[in-house]
Amino acid sequence: MSNLSALKNKINKNKASIAVVGLGYVGLPLAVSFAKAGFNVVGLDTDSDRVRKVNKAVNYIADVTSQDLKNLLKKKRISATTNFRVLENSEVVFICVPTPLKRKYLPDISFVLQAVRKIRQFMGKNKLIILESTTYPGTTEEVILPILESKGLRCGKDFYLAFSPERIDPGNKHYPINKIPKVIGGINADSSILAQLLYKKIVKDTIIVSSPRAAETVKLIENTFRIVNIGLINEMAMMANKLNMNIWEIIDAAKTKPFGFMAFYPGPGVGGHCIPKDPLYLYWKAKKYGFDSRFIKLASQLNSSMPAYIVQRLKKLLKDKNKPIHKAKILVLGATYKKDVKDLRKSPSLDIIELLLREKIDVSYFDPYIPYLKLGKINLKSIKLNKNAIKQFDCLVLATDHKCINYKGIIQHANLIFDTRGVLKNIKNRKVILL
Ligand SMILES: NC(=O)c1ccc[n+]([C@@H]2O[C@H](COP(=O)([O-])OP(=O)(O)OC[C@H]3O[C@@H](n4cnc5c(N)ncnc54)[C@H](O)[C@@H]3O)[C@@H](O)[C@H]2O)c1
Repeated sequence: MSNLSALKNKINKNKASIAVVGLGYVGLPLAVSFAKAGFNVVGLDTDSDRVRKVNKAVNYIADVTSQDLKNLLKKKRISATTNFRVLENSEVVFICVPTPLKRKYLPDISFVLQAVRKIRQFMGKNKLIILESTTYPGTTEEVILPILESKGLRCGKDFYLAFSPERIDPGNKHYPINKIPKVIGGINADSSILAQLLYKKIVKDTIIVSSPRAAETVKLIENTFRIVNIGLINEMAMMANKLNMNIWEIIDAAKTKPFGFMAFYPGPGVGGHCIPKDPLYLYWKAKKYGFDSRFIKLASQLNSSMPAYIVQRLKKLLKDKNKPIHKAKILVLGATYKKDVKDLRKSPSLDIIELLLREKIDVSYFDPYIPYLKLGKINLKSIKLNKNAIKQFDCLVLATDHKCINYKGIIQHANLIFDTRGVLKNIKNRKVILL
């Protein structure tokens, strides 16, 4: 049997051993999905705490449950380790490590490089390697392929390589990993076919595109679409405020059009490990080819300016109430970058708190998911949200719209609420001010 048929056979029979490198928001749900489908999965992470947690069925990601981990550990379908030697026996290796920015407009693929070099160290014939980390077009072909081939093995003959972007939205219960179609771009047709065969074990729909660079760009265009539209609606919110109009009412009416309009909502800025930085990967690559993406740059600048805009509006609100901000007590409601997740990465709430602290303004925060916060040298503790505590604050800035917060109860006791998320858009109350 040829290498290819043997690997196909193992995948078909759920017998291929799978390794997932990077057990974060992307890697852990992926590992759990394949383990649930009947594969033996080993998770690899440089963070020994995460490895320990997986092995003890202590979940740390919203999209996975401790019970899932417990069941899979019992069946010996999943395990985790920091020892890359396990790659010797893995037939499929997924790479799900972070791809941050070194600085604005400059990608940092060092985690991917570290992971790929480790894979090369334990590389043998007959393996399928799939990169899922979001990255700029060309990474798989121009960077990863040469590293994996540097020991003499050839892609398409000795091993297979593909890129398939992860498109999950952590915390989104409507679209778990198995309901999101998988886009696949292999280095060659066999790599695409093998990857497709594998993904069909956990998702219904798969789409093969012509190359890894096309698949890499699919993800970047999706997030560019989001950053540009969020930037646009943030600008519209600022404009509506100047014109004394309610942007939320306007969006809600506009979205009744059954075609040609898609609702995006304004907010305090964009956060997380995707939307703020993915488009900048594309910007950087295009710039290398002499192309300047004005949309990406403008949207990024606009969204980054939102925390400062929120603080500016807050100052004005308090001034209008004859309460200069320096004499006011402010509570920021919600610290995470979006609702119902524990993730603080690039959260605009943190920018708002930092801007207020920098001006020596008396600011506290509440977040049911984040008991403590460290901002530079400053340690903050989430307040206990109760009637007496709420009354103490001159203004609450609703920065993250966690579902578990009792907003109606808060309105009763608050002096003033500046709602940057539109949670209270349908409530007529003079204490509620909308972005
Ligand atoms: N978080 C999201 O919503 C999301 C959605 C789609 C795609 N992505 C993309 O997926 C990738 C991973 O994102 P994430 O949110 O899961 O990141 P994460 O930080 O939650 O997890 C990454 C994990 O990789 C580990 N790691 C780092 N270097 C390693 C190495 N060399 N070897 C082994 N493990 C290593 C880290 O310790 C961490 O546990 C990124 O490229 C991101 O842009 C993220």
